[in-house]
Amino acid sequence: MPALAEGVIYRPGYFSRAEQEALVEDIRAVVAAAPLYTPQMPRSGKPMSVRMTNCGPLGWVTDRDGGYRYQAAHPVIGAPWPPMPRRLLDIWGALADYPHPPEACLVNFYTDQAKMGLHQDRDEKDFSAPVISVSLGNSCLFRVGGTTRSGKTASFRLDSGDVVMLSGPGRLCYHGVDRIYPQSSTLLKQGGRINLTLRRVTIPAAA
Ligand code: SIN
Ligand code: FE2
Repeated sequence: MPALAEGVIYRPGYFSRAEQEALVEDIRAVVAAAPLYTPQMPRSGKPMSVRMTNCGPLGWVTDRDGGYRYQAAHPVIGAPWPPMPRRLLDIWGALADYPHPPEACLVNFYTDQAKMGLHQDRDEKDFSAPVISVSLGNSCLFRVGGTTRSGKTASFRLDSGDVVMLSGPGRLCYHGVDRIYPQSSTLLKQGGRINLTLRRVTIPAAA
C-alpha cells in the first residue's frame, strides 16, 4: 500500500457483503426516482464516460453551458433529487468528524470502459467537511495525489465495500479513476462499478 497524503483515509473492507447489498438496494431506489444521465464537460460539452445521479437536497451536476455546480433539481427530469437514504446519513454520522449532515450524495456509475480524470472536489463551500467515498461492484484502479496537480500520485485498487475519505489537509487532494477491472465483483448483476460520494456543500448557519 503506497503512502497517502495526510487526511486521505483508506478503510478497506469497511462494508460487509450484506451491507453492500443493502446499499445497492438503496441506490436502485434512488436511480428509479432520479435516472442516471450522461454529464457533459464544461465548455467543450464532451460527454463524460461516467453516468451520474444524486440524492439529498443538493446534487452535483455539470454541462457545457453551466459548468460544475450544485443544484436542487435533476437536470433532465427537473424534479428535486430523492432524499438521502437513512443508511447514507448513518455512514456520514459514523465517519465524518463534522457536526452537520451531508447535503449531496453523488452517485457515479462506471461501465467497464469508464474512467475519471484527475481532479479536485472543490465546488463545495465548506472544506472543513470531508468527502466520503464508497465503492460498490467492480474494483477500480484509484489514483490519489496531493493538493497540487503536478504532485506525485499513488495508485491502488479499490474493491467493493472499501471507503476512502478526503478530510482535513487531504480534503482537496487530486484523485481519479484510471480503470475498472471487469468481472472483479459479483455484487452488481449487470457488472460495472458504483461510487457514492457524500458531501457537505453549504456552510451551516451559525447556531
Ligand atoms: C469522484 O471523484 O467523484 C469519484 C471517485 C471514485 O469513483 O472513486
Ligand atoms: Fe472527486
